[in-house]
Amino acid sequence: MIRILFLGDIVGEPGRKAVMNRLASLREEEGIDFIVVNGENSAGGRGITPKIAIDLLRAGAAVITTGDHVWDQRDIIDYFPTEPRLLRPINYPDTAPGAGGVILETAKGKVGVMNAQGRTFMNPPLENPIPLAEAEAARMREEGAMAILVDFHTEATSEKIAFGRALDGKVSAVVGTHTHVQTADERIFPGGTAYLTDAGMCGPDDSVLGRDIDSVLWRFRTGMPTRFPIAKGPVRLCGVMVDVDEQTGRAEGITRISELSVDAADLPESS
Ligand SMILES: [Fe+2]
Ligand SMILES: [Fe+2]
Repeated sequence: MIRILFLGDIVGEPGRKAVMNRLASLREEEGIDFIVVNGENSAGGRGITPKIAIDLLRAGAAVITTGDHVWDQRDIIDYFPTEPRLLRPINYPDTAPGAGGVILETAKGKVGVMNAQGRTFMNPPLENPIPLAEAEAARMREEGAMAILVDFHTEATSEKIAFGRALDGKVSAVVGTHTHVQTADERIFPGGTAYLTDAGMCGPDDSVLGRDIDSVLWRFRTGMPTRFPIAKGPVRLCGVMVDVDEQTGRAEGITRISELSVDAADLPESS
């Protein structure tokens, strides 16, 4: 059995600090073998920088997934080809830097991680993720990775569930990201694929999707453009743990995580 932890969209410095502060103890307490985090909002809410990617990998993440905010920080574009453990959605054209999937060796065998983006209410419009994800899953299993986790980054619950069903039996887990709100529909599909519509975010708990409440409220009240600073205060860490039989690739358990962390302001500066 291999236990994989997935943490949803890390939002800004508070999210980053809370995740880095908790990763090692969570791994210890829960007996986690492999950690995947979504870093698409880790740089001030928009994208990810090379430094943040390095910090998250050093803190214990084996793979970092992203989403529609992947290119927001310019520096990351040239960094992508140098770091196979940082993924962008697989349904970008082949000309995009980086890759949408990676296989890593672990003490419990090869683990595959994939990142795909949906097409309903999402920008930019990308290729159909279903056939691409199916082909990548087949490639991973051919190369000996039976345990495969997919981060499906999109808005619509219908698209997420349909995608999860399409991949049932072909991967070990499909976990949604992007909405920043954790859903309570975790289950294991008949083919053995663990599924959760959205993992939720790792970001300030008193917020609107991690952003300052008053700023977002002002936008909704007035319709006028404004900045959305990252909110302050205690961070909620959201994600999911999936137990996978590494011989068959079937999920045997799925457990949501949603825990209130300390106030990131009380944590030391990330180096
Ligand atoms: Fe996000
Ligand atoms: Fe997103």
